[in-house]
Amino acid sequence: MLAGTGGSATAETAAHLDPKRPVHDRVERLLDRMTLDEKIGQMTQAERGSVTAGDVTAYRLGSLLSGGGSVPTPNTPESWADMYDGFQRAALATPRRIPLIYGVDAVHGHNNVVGATIFPHNIGLGAARNPELVRRIGAATAEEVTGTGPDWNFAPCVCVARNDRWGRTYESFGEIPELPAQMTTAVSGLQGPRLGGPASVLATAKHYVGDGGTTGGVDQGNTEISEAELRRIHLPPFQAAIRRGAGSVMISFNSWNGVKAHGHRYLITDVLKKELRFSGLVVSDWNGIDQIDGQPGFTAAEVRTSINAGIDMVMVPNDWKRFIETLKAEVEAGRVPMSRIDDANRRILTKKVQLGLFERPLADRRYLRTVGSGEHRELARRAVAESQVLLKNEGNVLPLDRRDGRIFVAGKNADDIGNQSGGWTITWQGSSGDITPGTTILEGIRQTAGKRGTVTYSKDGSGVDGSYDAAVAVVGETPYAEFMGDRPGAMGLDAEDLATLQRLRASGVPVVVVLVSGRPLDVSAQLPQWNALVASWLPGTEGRGVADVLFGVRKPTGKLPVTWMKDVGQQPINKGDGKDPLFPFGYGLTYRR
Ligand code: GLC
Repeated sequence: MLAGTGGSATAETAAHLDPKRPVHDRVERLLDRMTLDEKIGQMTQAERGSVTAGDVTAYRLGSLLSGGGSVPTPNTPESWADMYDGFQRAALATPRRIPLIYGVDAVHGHNNVVGATIFPHNIGLGAARNPELVRRIGAATAEEVTGTGPDWNFAPCVCVARNDRWGRTYESFGEIPELPAQMTTAVSGLQGPRLGGPASVLATAKHYVGDGGTTGGVDQGNTEISEAELRRIHLPPFQAAIRRGAGSVMISFNSWNGVKAHGHRYLITDVLKKELRFSGLVVSDWNGIDQIDGQPGFTAAEVRTSINAGIDMVMVPNDWKRFIETLKAEVEAGRVPMSRIDDANRRILTKKVQLGLFERPLADRRYLRTVGSGEHRELARRAVAESQVLLKNEGNVLPLDRRDGRIFVAGKNADDIGNQSGGWTITWQGSSGDITPGTTILEGIRQTAGKRGTVTYSKDGSGVDGSYDAAVAVVGETPYAEFMGDRPGAMGLDAEDLATLQRLRASGVPVVVVLVSGRPLDVSAQLPQWNALVASWLPGTEGRGVADVLFGVRKPTGKLPVTWMKDVGQQPINKGDGKDPLFPFGYGLTYRR
């Protein structure tokens, strides 16, 4: 008997589970049989720490996420796969057996997992100007994510960072739309040639739209620009991501001319879904719907407004039970049409079917061995080297002598994996210290210097004397993420770095500064005292890539992805704005020999 013609439940059940059927057909058959509770459950994304496996089954939850640093104990790849499978089995215990889709922020490698390969943050990849490298990094990241279970990555951020005060500047590939647009190869890397292939995870173009254009660079602030400027600067990377088949788009916290993006029907439905013909799923950001009315928590009005604006899945980490109740009441009251609920479910279920989650719901443990693999670390090392931007090299103090050079290394960021990785590393904010396996920049220097050479390290520079050929100062920022990294005031080096640099300068030894930071810093006053300056950005675990450039194993090829201010008063400063920078967008030196 044909399924769907009143046939037996078995035949009907088989319909949406039949991989031979067209995706659209499977989705429609499933949708026909789902209750309102099941449909609302699919639109609900809860944080793993606020649910039990029983909740997943009882409330028919469609998605879970690990927020930054939300990890199983122990935080090992195997433990991740066990956690994921536990939740997934709970989802498969529901009447419709609809698998979960599990999201993580693997924004520079699978960065929540100890032992994962941590790649340079996007600003460094923008400096590398290598879209194919970015695709390969996406593919490597997808392998590490797949082995541990999750099937959805809240990446790439395709934001266009227009003000370096913004705490998320390092999540941007650059200050002009062409760079993030070019680097949407990350989508191709993450998703693979087609969704559902081996090590294919759903990519997310984020944050829609204008997150990098807020007044004053305030994170989650107000982007006060014309529609023409919004379309010219902030929209193109999303168009590029959609052309590459990005399966999801995450809505941004910022407002556009005073209206929160999370409630903006014109931007989400008219522009993204209709004009740009985005057919994937739209997900809110973390409690993003709560911000629509400017008051804490969400109201029925905010639930109604965000869903009717076109959000398909709501990231409601903790208050998800109340969200489910509220949305159901809004639908039953006729204030959210069933057509909107069905559209959201079609989008969500289509991605789940395309990902092959119905056929292969559990972690693909074949990829566990790729987590932190030598192959991935070599790729990261290459990316680090290609991301270095040589900004000054007076007297060709670089490259350093590999044979028998006497090198003095100092600075708080020289021997600190946490500092060189930055935010979104093991924890949401990241942290200083030996937080995950890798090679610090100092270790890389020691490994690269010649056998007859000398490398002396002193964090604060004490002990330096005139007997050294060069003093390498690895300084800059310590980890931060999102609004915690906003810098509304000065943007110079901290007192610790300035004291270290002063000690080195007093020795009379040529000073090479390696700046580990998520953005340009205000260094004009100190620059004349430095013989060389390398913008290292946030390289991640493979610090040897920095040494590769310092010693000339690889020549510096990086180009600035952002304009470098002459002083903080110039912010925002961008290509073509007529201001006179310290170093212009696209600047970068190399070695003559
Ligand atoms: C955060 C970020 C977003 C991230 C999400 C889930 O607040 O804005 O980029 O994907 O929450 O962690």
